[in-house]
Formats: sequence, C-alpha cells, structure tokens
Amino acid sequence: MLLVVGLGLIGSAWAVRLPQARRLTALGAQQQLGELLFFEPGLSVNGKRSCASCHRPEKAFTDRRSTPRALRFAGNLTRNSPTLLNAADQTSFFHDGRAGSLAAVVEAVLTNPDEFGSSYALATERLDGSPAYRRLFRRAFGAPVGAATINAALAAYLGTLTATHSPYDRARVGGPALAGDAAAGAALFAGSGNCARCHGGPQFRDGLRHEVAPGQWVKTPTLRNVALTMPYRADGGAFTLPAVLADAYHRPLPDQPLTAAGVAHLTAFLEALTDTAATARREPPALPALPALPGRVVGGLY
Ligand code: HEC
Ligand code: HEC
Repeated sequence: MLLVVGLGLIGSAWAVRLPQARRLTALGAQQQLGELLFFEPGLSVNGKRSCASCHRPEKAFTDRRSTPRALRFAGNLTRNSPTLLNAADQTSFFHDGRAGSLAAVVEAVLTNPDEFGSSYALATERLDGSPAYRRLFRRAFGAPVGAATINAALAAYLGTLTATHSPYDRARVGGPALAGDAAAGAALFAGSGNCARCHGGPQFRDGLRHEVAPGQWVKTPTLRNVALTMPYRADGGAFTLPAVLADAYHRPLPDQPLTAAGVAHLTAFLEALTDTAATARREPPALPALPALPGRVVGGLY
C-alpha cells in the first residue's frame, strides 16, 4: 500500500506532462538540420569541436568527465557536462539556471572562449559557404543561415532527445512491477527519504535552484538515466550514486539518516530509471561538404 501511494506522489501529473517519446527515425527537416549542427565542428573557431564533443550520444549525452577540457585543452571548465536527454523541456538551463532558453544556451556555447570561441558571424559564413547547408536551411525554415535559424535547428534537435522508457515507466503502464531493492527504493524515495520533494514529477526534478553550499545555488537535476551519467553534481565531484547520497548536502535531507540497505535500495531504484535506448543514438554518418573546412570529423575531436 505504501508503495502504491509513494509511486502516485512521484508521478503526479504524469499522464498529461510526459512528452510523447520521439524517435530519431522520424525527424522533421528542422530536427534533421539540428542533428547535423549538433555534430558540426565547423561551429567552433578551430573547426575541431562540436556540441557532441562534450555531449556524446553513446555516453547518454555527457562526456563522463568531472569537468570538460577547455578549447585547445587550455585547462578545464568549472562544471560537469549534464545529460541532454530530457533536457529541452525546462524553463532554465545550466546548473545555476542562468540561461532562460535553448537559444541562450547555444549563444553562450558558441561565444564562450573555452567552448567554441566562435561567433554567429563566423559560423554563418562557414555554413553559408556550403550549397548543401544553404538548401537544408531553406528547406527547414524557408530562411537563410543565421543566428536565429542555427538556434532554432539545434533546439529542435534537442527536443528529440527524450529517453523515458525505463523499467519504472513500464511498471507504471502495466508492465512488470518493480521488485526487490528497486521497489523498496521507490518507497523510500517517495517516503521518508524525502527525495521526491525536489526530484519529483515525471522528470524527477522540480525546476528550482537549491543552496547546496553557502552561496552556491544549483538547479535540481533530473534523475532519469542517472546511472549512465557519472560523475555527478554540478562540480562533477561525486563518482557514484552512493557518494552523492553521502555528501554534505544530501546526507541530512532524509527524515532519518539512510542505512546501508536504504542506500542500496535507492541506488537500485535510480538504476530502474534507465531507458535502455538512452545510449543507442549515434552520430550522423556524414556532414554536408564545407569548403572552409575540408576533412573535418563528424562530431569533432574532443
Ligand atoms: C566544452 C564542453 C561542452 C561543449 C562543447 C558543449 N557543452 Fe553543453 N554543457 C557543457 C557544460 C559543462 C554544461 C553545464 C554548464 C553550466 O552549468 O555552467 C552544459 C550545459 C548544456 C545545456 C543545459 C542542460 C541543462 O539541463 O541545464 C544544454 C542544453 C547544452 N549544454 C547544449 C549544448 C549544445 C547545443 C552545444 C553545442 C552548441 C553544447 N552544449 C556544447 C559542456 C559543453
Ligand atoms: C532539497 C532538495 C533535494 C532533495 C530533498 C534531494 N535532492 Fe538530490 N539533488 C538536489 C540538487 C540541488 C542536486 C544538485 C547538487 C549539485 O549539483 O551539487 C541534486 C543531485 C542529486 C543527484 C546527482 C545527479 C546528477 O546528475 O549529478 C542524485 C543522484 C540525487 N540528487 C539523488 C537524490 C536522492 C536519492 C534523494 C533522496 C535521498 C535526493 N536526491 C534528495 C536536490 C535535492
């Protein structure tokens, strides 16, 4: 009984808010163009780095590093690369929520000297030099290559990156019920563990920022596919799920301190949030010819 009540709490508003799963086999023209741009190193100043450099499809759209290397390997960025699966339908982006739209994210990446070190002018000039890209932009938007169409195409692609077919989801729609440790973890998650207070709703996040250390505010991350997206936290400083639960921020949050069994149960529950297709996406086989950058690599180098 407790379990049933608990699951109800986690998934309130579930049926109405969970986006329909969209699969990459049926991309529209804007999404297809966005996919090419996502793997297009020509957007970065040196023609070597793409979005996929830090958001690898086979790594659930992370890079599995604590923090990414900066452009040209000049040091590191300060924050962990989050998964882009189920990321598009948020109202604020980046760990501190400072970007209000996907367009703002793309602009920040394009112009950040440590990420792409580029500009819309340079990116537009390069893409516009390619007849194939010019055609793809016309087909997708009826408009030429430019900041607005680059942003919109990437946003359209990010919107296709949903991964919500996990054992947990199947159990909710009449599939095999979660059993054993995962079932016990579900009850703890929604009950005395207090997890659903912040990691609630269909995407297991509340859209809010919390003060994780004095003066340091971090947006609650989704827990979907979290078993695939180590290392954890905005600082990338936790390497396992139990390490997150034992950290200074999470330790005091449950009603009672978690037991070793409780940690094992929660971990099993979090593993049941993995969509087995989350790492199945691949880069496109080829990119349109780009006269300015012959011989570039799909997806870029790191
Ligand atoms: C150098 C590695 C790197 C590259 C290249 C990169 N990202 Fe990121 N991405 C990050 C990091 C790190 C963050 C978190 C930054 C922060 O919180 O300040 C992030 C955050 C994001 C977010 C916010 C996710 C969320 O849930 O808030 C989106 C969306 C995103 N990136 C998309 C892109 C796109 C699109 C591109 C290509 C235009 C790109 N990234 C290129 C490392 C990278
Ligand atoms: C008061 C809000 C709150 C509660 C309650 C809470 N969390 Fe979190 N959780 C967060 C925030 C905020 C972060 C990001 C922390 C950071 O990046 O430093 C986070 C991060 C995580 C992460 C790391 C995810 C990632 O991708 O980096 C996991 C796993 C996690 N929480 C699980 C849990 C579990 C399990 C519980 C219940 C025992 C729980 N949380 C309770 C707010 C909360």
